[in-house]
Amino acid sequence: MRNREKTEKSFENRLSLLQFFLQGSVCLFVSAMIAASAVSFADMLLPRIMTFTVDSVIGDLEPRLSPYFLGLLERAGGAGIFRRQPYLIALLVAATAAAGAVCRYLFRYFNEAGAERMVKRMRVSLYDHIVHLPYAWHGSNSTGDILQRCTSDVETIREFVSEQLTSLVRVAVLIVLAVWFMAQISLKMTAAASVFIPVLVGYSVFFYSKTGSAFLKADEEESTLSAIAQENLTGVRVVRAFGRERYERERFEKQNEYYTGLWIRLIKILSLNWMTGDLLTGLQYLLVMVTGSVFCVRREITPGEFIAFVSYNSMLTWPVRRLGRVISEMSKAGISLERLRYIMAEGTERDPENALEPPMDRDITFRHVSFSYEDASGEALMDVSLTIPAHATVGILGGTGSGKSTLMYLLEKLYPLAPGQGQILIGDTDLADVSTPYLRSQIGMVLQEPYLFSGTIADNIGIASPEDVDEDELQDVTMKADLLNTVRRFPEGFATKVGERGVTLSGGQKQRTAIAQMLVRKTPVMIFDDSLSAVDAETDDRIRRALRAASGEATVIIIAHRVMTLMHADRIFVLDRGRVAEEGTHEELYRKGGIYRRICDLQSGGGDEGAEEAGPTAGSSLKGKAGQRPDPAGKEGGHEEKV
Ligand SMILES: Nc1ncnc2c1ncn2[C@@H]1O[C@H](COP(=O)(O)OP(=O)(O)OP(=O)(O)O)[C@@H](O)[C@H]1O
Ligand SMILES: [Mg+2]
Repeated sequence: MRNREKTEKSFENRLSLLQFFLQGSVCLFVSAMIAASAVSFADMLLPRIMTFTVDSVIGDLEPRLSPYFLGLLERAGGAGIFRRQPYLIALLVAATAAAGAVCRYLFRYFNEAGAERMVKRMRVSLYDHIVHLPYAWHGSNSTGDILQRCTSDVETIREFVSEQLTSLVRVAVLIVLAVWFMAQISLKMTAAASVFIPVLVGYSVFFYSKTGSAFLKADEEESTLSAIAQENLTGVRVVRAFGRERYERERFEKQNEYYTGLWIRLIKILSLNWMTGDLLTGLQYLLVMVTGSVFCVRREITPGEFIAFVSYNSMLTWPVRRLGRVISEMSKAGISLERLRYIMAEGTERDPENALEPPMDRDITFRHVSFSYEDASGEALMDVSLTIPAHATVGILGGTGSGKSTLMYLLEKLYPLAPGQGQILIGDTDLADVSTPYLRSQIGMVLQEPYLFSGTIADNIGIASPEDVDEDELQDVTMKADLLNTVRRFPEGFATKVGERGVTLSGGQKQRTAIAQMLVRKTPVMIFDDSLSAVDAETDDRIRRALRAASGEATVIIIAHRVMTLMHADRIFVLDRGRVAEEGTHEELYRKGGIYRRICDLQSGGGDEGAEEAGPTAGSSLKGKAGQRPDPAGKEGGHEEKV
């Protein structure tokens, strides 16, 4: 497994996860913050220019500047030069504003570039981690919820870093600079104006800390809403077929209403907060205006300084109020980070050190395997012991829910066996010691419910193949899977688009595409999990004949409900409620007169009227319908069949 180092981390807390996401974009964010500080500084200079203009250019007061700037001014000809050439003021303002604009541009650029880079890293690492999570994890988490976390929560964190975190630094710099510039005008007035800073910040922090859980609840309900919509879109056929549109619409509407209600309540609380914030800001403004006017009248400050002070104060109120909001968004980001940590802290499928890659043309042995799914009440498999001989064709028959697919999932290590749940061996090697990617590359499995990706038929067939599949090979495998004629009927042949945005294949056609997909890989172990259930009996027969030739030396496992699909296997295991109830060849099992015989008789449709020896329905009565009914003699249409 390449590039797995990053997802092996445990991410004990949110900060470690944030640090991980920030790798590669920290420099950009730091540059953005430096640019933001420069913006704040440029903004601070403008009121100073205003003070100078009002007091020393329009008025005739001595300019209050630092000795350095005073020296510069003297050398240039004193304040009088600005009176004689007023455009110089405009130039000064324009230069300051231009410097501010350039810094603003740099800030935006660095900030957005950093945010994009971080989001890209988040998407890549989340996706990479999710595809490596155990199969069981996917089973117990809804797709809608996972998607919600990967979109909305990622967006919240992006906002947090690129807006809140940078503005936190920006605000801090702004407050320090503003207070410093204000203090130079009047310490007393600065003290009066600053009284409200801790009040405003404290109030916001208190308020938003109380609303954190409400935000979390709203996020959770949004996930549920997405999950309902996603489920309905995926299962649209079922919804239509069962006329459940109204029920589903009502379910969606109910959740939507609940979610909207939650947000309306949240907005009410938020509005209350904004109102209180406005009120406090108004009070502070009032205080500054009153004290400023008094000080101005008492000649403690100049009119120019008064204007500058009011400007600094208004510059301050916005960021101070924003601070509370920033802190509130932080609580939201904290929740989103936690929701992503839920995914990222989950352990991926891991192999033991020095995982083995044993040859797969060996006997496969299940030894006392018992297994139950995490959220299920009963056991899916109970003390199953069976051997699948190398190169043999083995059939597994059993009612629904008897554990057939589970057996194969365990063989593919989709669910790893815990200690005490028995053992699976490939030759003499314990499956637990076998490398999972290797194992899966060696086992070809046609799933019970095949899934086609959006793409062409050729893409889908070649999806699991390590090499490109050429036209000849495509023809060969599709012929064996009895799909070639179907493909030829499509105007675009193998280039026909299937999947969500392409033509819809029938259940049987899908199954046959999945068979072709597996054949192309030429794996030493082939599993057909109920793979011929959706094709008619004649096609079933034809495919089996072709597969027999195609499977060659491979170990073949056929899972089926239909006896005729697996009756020619070298060995048949009958599963009943998680246990191996019977095993043997078709003849042995038929003669035994147990479950297998009963299924055989039921499927032949003839019962057992006087057919103890010959079995139900002799071949003669099936002329022209070869392969439609199980034949106890193990022959079909005069051909001996293996698959
Ligand atoms: N992901 C799962 N979580 C919980 N229980 C499960 C899960 N998958 C299967 N089961 C349960 O395990 C038992 C065995 O299921 P399994 O899919 O192996 O049956 P099967 O023999 O393949 O049935 P079928 O012929 O219908 O495909 C069933 O009782 C089923 O309900
Ligand atoms: Mg199954």
